[in-house]
Amino acid sequence: MKVAASISELELARSELMAGATPPVIAYVPTMGALHDGHLSLVRLARGIADVVIMSIFVNPLQFGPNEDYAKYPRTLERDLKKAKKAGVDLVFTPTVAEIYPAGRQVSVKAGAIGEVLEGAFRPGHFDGVLTVVLKLLNIVRPSVAIFGRKDAQQLACIRRMVRDLNVDVDIVGAPIVREEDGLAMSSRNRFLSPAERASALVLSASLRAAAQEPAPAAALAAASRLLTVAVDAGEIEVDYISVVNGTTMAPLPDDYTGPGLAVVAARVGTTRLIDNIELVFPGPERP
Ligand code: PAF
Repeated sequence: MKVAASISELELARSELMAGATPPVIAYVPTMGALHDGHLSLVRLARGIADVVIMSIFVNPLQFGPNEDYAKYPRTLERDLKKAKKAGVDLVFTPTVAEIYPAGRQVSVKAGAIGEVLEGAFRPGHFDGVLTVVLKLLNIVRPSVAIFGRKDAQQLACIRRMVRDLNVDVDIVGAPIVREEDGLAMSSRNRFLSPAERASALVLSASLRAAAQEPAPAAALAAASRLLTVAVDAGEIEVDYISVVNGTTMAPLPDDYTGPGLAVVAARVGTTRLIDNIELVFPGPERP
């Protein structure tokens, strides 16, 4: 496995991997490191659809707000490189902040309305930061396919929207959420949970599973809210939002909606902020 710490090293390694009569298909897995089985499932997916798998590990300062956990975000590069190699990554790009954001940079990407609701309402500017780095990384890596986890559902929707609106020449693939056996969605932030907080965090996935049993958006929202309220009242979590939305636009679904939807939740457990979601299908009234 090759490791490139700068754009010029990436260029060199990329052209070595591309050498040959038929240029290989490149799949790209962008990450912020602290790799867990969720990331490794993205690599497996990438390996299944491409000849060359490139991963980046870059904790992007632009997507963290002033009071967020940029400084505290786990940085475990040596361990990550071992995991990436074992999973079959061909090339890992590990740029510095100065390499990605040289002094004097001015232009950035604005997510627009899709990035201002839900996560965007609690983390102003977050998706502008995500889209700016993702567009830069796509331009540097130049893959045919880029793979993102569906746990960050709004991030995935924003990226798909950017690719469409800005005519970015890449296929975006969303990979299924990977969960612990007890239902907790895998996240680099789970390591910050104490055993008691980890137990409290299970209400997020439980509330989403309850929502998925319901036939219409309002009932789904009510079912999830009931479980979350018990945990809030017990002082175990603080909920930022729970909503039932269109997975493409992130707009709330009206109650007469039929078709696929998404229940999304964000909550703080102690000082750790977690998000999760589940895909739902609202069948509509049965026809005779
Ligand atoms: O999902 C993440 O890890 C990050 O938001 C991403 C897509 C790598 C951009 O920094």
